[in-house]
Amino acid sequence: MAKLVVQGKKRLEGKLQVHGAKNSVLPILAAGLLSKGCVIHNCPQLTDVDAACDILEYLGAKTKREGDTIAIQPQDSGNCCIPDELMRRMRSSIVFLGAIIARCGHARLSMPGGCELGPRPIDLHLGALERLGVKIEEDHGYLNCTAPKGLAGAVIPLPFPSVGATENIMIAASLAKGETVIKNAAREPEISDLADFLCACGAKVQMGRNGDICVQGVPALGEAEHTVISDRIAAATYLSAAAATGGDITLAGICTEHLSAVLPCFEEMGCSVWQKADEIRLKAPDRLHALRCIRTMPYPGFPTDAQSPLMAAACVADGSSMFIENIFESRYKQVPELLRMGADIKVEGRVALVHGVPELHSAQVRCTDLRGGAAIVIAALAAQGQSEILEIGHIDRGYERLEESLSSVGAAIRRVH
Ligand code: EPZ
Repeated sequence: MAKLVVQGKKRLEGKLQVHGAKNSVLPILAAGLLSKGCVIHNCPQLTDVDAACDILEYLGAKTKREGDTIAIQPQDSGNCCIPDELMRRMRSSIVFLGAIIARCGHARLSMPGGCELGPRPIDLHLGALERLGVKIEEDHGYLNCTAPKGLAGAVIPLPFPSVGATENIMIAASLAKGETVIKNAAREPEISDLADFLCACGAKVQMGRNGDICVQGVPALGEAEHTVISDRIAAATYLSAAAATGGDITLAGICTEHLSAVLPCFEEMGCSVWQKADEIRLKAPDRLHALRCIRTMPYPGFPTDAQSPLMAAACVADGSSMFIENIFESRYKQVPELLRMGADIKVEGRVALVHGVPELHSAQVRCTDLRGGAAIVIAALAAQGQSEILEIGHIDRGYERLEESLSSVGAAIRRVH
């Protein structure tokens, strides 16, 4: 098993190019199943992306990666189910459901396992697809989905702006008969990126100003070429690492607007932030100030995926920072590992209170999930001494060669196999 070895207390300085967005490329790859062939640029090299390509291949689409570009060529026939081992490799494999049903008229896949963030229900996905005419039966941990009369457009009010449910509906509705209106749809930038891709393929998707998404079904999708947006969460992660090490870094190739809820937090911590449309420079003070209160919310609120990286920086700030995790039930798995490094954090349900300490110390720690793992790396970068970080497979799901990126701006971090 590989691990990361980190010698802490090195200031991060320099310029980084941020990779394409994991949470954008995954639904776009799923939607690519419905195209006549597509070329997707700026695809990050992530194990979740590899898993998505394996699912596409299983479903009968040829995929070919050349650098950061993935070409998808769907074949006329293919499977209409996702086997359990493929479902379990990637949490968000549920986003293929809408595409499979739209393509085959039926689908069979296993219930995604509960995972590191607490239960990951899919009731909003299933309820929405039923409104489009899908019949769903549970069968010993599998879901048998059929659309006997095909998919028909409908008004779908989402009780919560679920990102994945919104994506599933957009994809399935693209080939449904008639109009679909998603009310209270998710508004994350990745949703707009998926809409842009679907429209490039010939779908008719409109993002309403009131947050609704309207989809006019079309008989078939065509060919398309698309460039995936930059990963705003990876950007927030690198900024957190610079903040935690008193660093001075510039991020290029990003969309600054996507970080509008995150940048003020770094300024509150005493960092200087300079921004252009596609570039951000952050210069951190030697000692950060605490954050009064961070509430995670659906976009454009503070993103839940940036909660743990920012918490790592708050561990070495002056004062106490409060985090309120409103999106996932259990997203503080990184806390016990941070405590091993000398952090002072109290968790009560959805609230975490972080009391800044003068210094963290090195330890042997384990990644618990993707963003929690990133937080543990950030803490090791700020800690005195050499840390070993295990279970780094979690990190490789969502960060492209994290140790190489961090080393390029001065971190003493290496992967040991
Ligand atoms: C997407 O997950 C992202 N993953 C997550 O990023 C991100 O944290 C999340 O959106 C919120 O922004 C991908 O895009 C691949 P949700 P998703 O449906 O679609 C509950 C990362 O680290 N819910 O918006 O699963 C759910 O339990 C990952 O990159 C239901 O109750 O998020 C959660 O509490 C982690 N029923 C909340 O809604 C449902 O049917 C938000 O879930 C669906 C969701």
